[in-house]
Amino acid sequence: MRNVHVDLGAKSYDIEIERGLLKTAGKRIRALLPKAEKAAVITDSNVGPLYTRTLRKTLEEEGFSVSVQLFEAGEERKNLATLGSLYNGMAEAGLTRSDLTIALGGGVTGDMGGLAAATFLRGIAFVQIPTSLLATVDSSVGGKVAVDLPEGKNLVGAFYQPKAVFIDPDLLQTLPVRYLHDGLAEVIKYGCIREKALFEKLEQIQDDTELLDHLDEIIEICCNCKARIVERDEFDTGERMLLNFGHTLGHAVEKTFNFDTYSHGEGVSIGMTLLTRRSEALGFTEPGTADRIAALLQKFRLPVSVRMGQEEFLQAIALDKKKRGSAITLVLLKNIGESFLQKVPFSELGKYLPK
Ligand code: GLY
Repeated sequence: MRNVHVDLGAKSYDIEIERGLLKTAGKRIRALLPKAEKAAVITDSNVGPLYTRTLRKTLEEEGFSVSVQLFEAGEERKNLATLGSLYNGMAEAGLTRSDLTIALGGGVTGDMGGLAAATFLRGIAFVQIPTSLLATVDSSVGGKVAVDLPEGKNLVGAFYQPKAVFIDPDLLQTLPVRYLHDGLAEVIKYGCIREKALFEKLEQIQDDTELLDHLDEIIEICCNCKARIVERDEFDTGERMLLNFGHTLGHAVEKTFNFDTYSHGEGVSIGMTLLTRRSEALGFTEPGTADRIAALLQKFRLPVSVRMGQEEFLQAIALDKKKRGSAITLVLLKNIGESFLQKVPFSELGKYLPK
């Protein structure tokens, strides 16, 4: 088993990575919460039918009474209405403060299930069991939980750390290839901002089969990288913002295309490439870096350009929550594996955007 400890004082927890782990999740959760009686599993209509039965069995073997709160899959369901229905289900199941919720699914499930746990009865224990690569390496770790508003993504949320993150890489072996690559964009992001050796390793990997063979190790490197950053900046006021590399432009792409054309990872892939091309032209980044990133992303069939002009980017970014007052914080690279934050007045943002 691979283990990554996240050291946050009283809120510390472990990320456990092991093939076949889902079958033993009940035992692990019982060890963490000896007194809990009820477990509410939050999952969506794609993941629920695949894995709920296994999870229910292992939980019931440990004496948990299990309820399943299932919602229709899709980012458009990550909203206040769905959150409300989760609260209703948790209330009907009779959860008390000593019980727990388990988010079983991708980023939408983890974000929304986490927010439900953070707020129901003013906070009950919660465990993340991510089932997509994106959730595994990013959203399940670090305690950011949220839902979207019509005005923008993740506008209502909290920092609420899970009691544990249980990663079973076997669950990722059958992901549709687009979703595997979606998560890979975040993996490549870690390579760009801090993990040069990971970036170089990915450059050596020939195809998806080889990628899947190395998945456990790749997940551990990414979780470790994120854990160390979150330990130093839990509330996202400094270093943690490095994890947003490619995200400001990426969110703008997702939003401009109504969240139905480009996935999150695809948006990030475009954002990392376009921003690095501009920061190279501005002299902040070593020449050739953008081409190197684009080549790696394209090997895994991720997009690196988009039909969008500067005006469209500016409009979409205007509501970005990372904009503070009249400035926005961008993440730029010096080089592969070396990143820094750049505060940019909104009036100068055009320089960093494609023409
Ligand atoms: N996904 C970025 C963060 O957790 O800070």
